[in-house]
Amino acid sequence: MSANFIAAPRGKKIVVANWKMHPTSLEQARRLVAAYRPHPSAFLVVCPPAVFLPQVSARFGKHVAFGAQDCFWESSGAYTGEISPSTLKKSGANFVILGHSERRKFLGENDTMINKKILAALAEKLSPIVCLGGGLAPSISKTEIKNIVRRQFAHAVKKVRSAQKLIFVFEPAYAISTFSAQRVSPLQASAMIAYVRKLCGDRFGWGAAAKTPILYGGSVDGVSFRDYLKSGQIDGFLVGGASLKPKEFNLIIRGS
Ligand code: PGA
Repeated sequence: MSANFIAAPRGKKIVVANWKMHPTSLEQARRLVAAYRPHPSAFLVVCPPAVFLPQVSARFGKHVAFGAQDCFWESSGAYTGEISPSTLKKSGANFVILGHSERRKFLGENDTMINKKILAALAEKLSPIVCLGGGLAPSISKTEIKNIVRRQFAHAVKKVRSAQKLIFVFEPAYAISTFSAQRVSPLQASAMIAYVRKLCGDRFGWGAAAKTPILYGGSVDGVSFRDYLKSGQIDGFLVGGASLKPKEFNLIIRGS
């Protein structure tokens, strides 16, 4: 555990494993991380269910970074069921996924809540992995997709002073494997990554935007990741389902 931010090194692709509510025991969680094969070309962030963080990060924290899948915006108090950024940090997390589509859909998270969480995470030196694309449906036009992403981005970064510790993910809800798993073409994904970089540039300046990691998420698997990487725009991936299958996930980590 580091009291400061852990930076994702430049020049490496960032691969984030979003385990969601899997697996269901600590032993299985340990086995899953143990089956991953870290590779020098990738910076790996594993986001297990929060209860497993202290043990798995203590055991594997030298080889991979750890993140939480959510945090609350207050640092302590009477908030039943919530976990503060500082508790997560002390439990071994250095990153936190925020604004995920599933939290918007099933738990009613909105842009204001997500912004508060981002600010609270930054204050505790957890790097937010900010998801953009919640609520997107495959039927809407490219212009509408951009409008929604622009609005989500603008809310997310309210009062955020620097992009330095942020990671963004373009992850359209409809592409998530457990939703409609509608494939996004590498061309469309890279166009949206470029658009998020433009939003970043308009807000934080072009120097900062060039350094900000922008990932793609949504049904990325051991085959499709190659085409996404070829575009040259995408700095890495947020991976759900495939991160539970070590053989497949190791292909993404290795990048070949
Ligand atoms: P998926 O999930 O890779 O299974 O589509 C990604 C996510 O929801 O973060």
